[in-house]
Amino acid sequence: IIDQAMVAANTMDRDELLFSYKGILYPATFCSPEVFRAMESLEARSDDIILAGYPKSGTNWVGQILNDLVGIFEKKTQNKESSMNDEELEEFPYLEIGDTGKFERMNKLPSRRVIFTHLLPENLPRSIFKSKAKILLLIRNPKDVATSFYHFSNAMSPLPSYETWDDFFVAFMTKKMPWGCYFEYISKWNKYADDENVMTITYEELKEHPVLGVKNIAAFFGFSPTEKELQIVVERSSFQSMKKNSQKTHGAFGNLLFRKGGVSDWKNHFSEDQNEKMDKAFEEHIGRTKLGRKLKY
Ligand code: A3P
Repeated sequence: IIDQAMVAANTMDRDELLFSYKGILYPATFCSPEVFRAMESLEARSDDIILAGYPKSGTNWVGQILNDLVGIFEKKTQNKESSMNDEELEEFPYLEIGDTGKFERMNKLPSRRVIFTHLLPENLPRSIFKSKAKILLLIRNPKDVATSFYHFSNAMSPLPSYETWDDFFVAFMTKKMPWGCYFEYISKWNKYADDENVMTITYEELKEHPVLGVKNIAAFFGFSPTEKELQIVVERSSFQSMKKNSQKTHGAFGNLLFRKGGVSDWKNHFSEDQNEKMDKAFEEHIGRTKLGRKLKY
């Protein structure tokens, strides 16, 4: 999917790369209004594992953790041969990326399905909330998200590129990003942060305490890996291992995805003025909210 999108985007003009759907921009080579409409046919299940996060919050990292936890669980309970493999998944894991037939195929996949999404809660298929599927909400501080998004946008032909960091910063702060505005995303998900079927984790806490983070994630989804299994999941999901393995797991796209994998690279990009502007927007929009308080930087 990614390779096809990259090729298609190479022949498109900059202003064709994004389209707007219900007021939010999306990359035209990944998503389409038809796919959004077909999405309502997804039959969510109570044992689905939903990973929600704004782009560049560490989705692929946490996604691998979830897939490995499922693999270990299935090996134990269903006698499956291998718990963790890096072969391509049967279905591209991002809910909103693909073709219109995706949801019918997904409806036939066995449990437990791991589904990634960058969508606002209001744009998710209603069955996700009705089914009480558990949602892991992954959040990352906005300065590192912006930094990561800037490099990603310039490396990925399906996304508009920016001549300078300053140009990107303006776009990030004025809602011109694919998948919408970071602050709106956090603000809208705040309403769900206390739900019993929602768990929030920050990129920063997982980076600082990976064993504890993985243990908490496992417990939330009802998995009980042994200490040794936990260690394996943590080791396999370290930035170094994922980067090393990326050719196998993500093909050429892997080189773009695993960039620095750390905290505070924003300090190499933000001017003092940009830093103040971001702090001000943060305070204004989300600083005093539940999720805002979790996001320290
Ligand atoms: P950087 O650009 O700051 O390095 P997403 O998967 O949502 O697109 O997020 C990508 C960001 O997560 C990138 O951030 C990437 O390097 C980082 N990342 C990917 N795998 C990681 C891992 N195993 N540990 C920590 N960060 C990781």
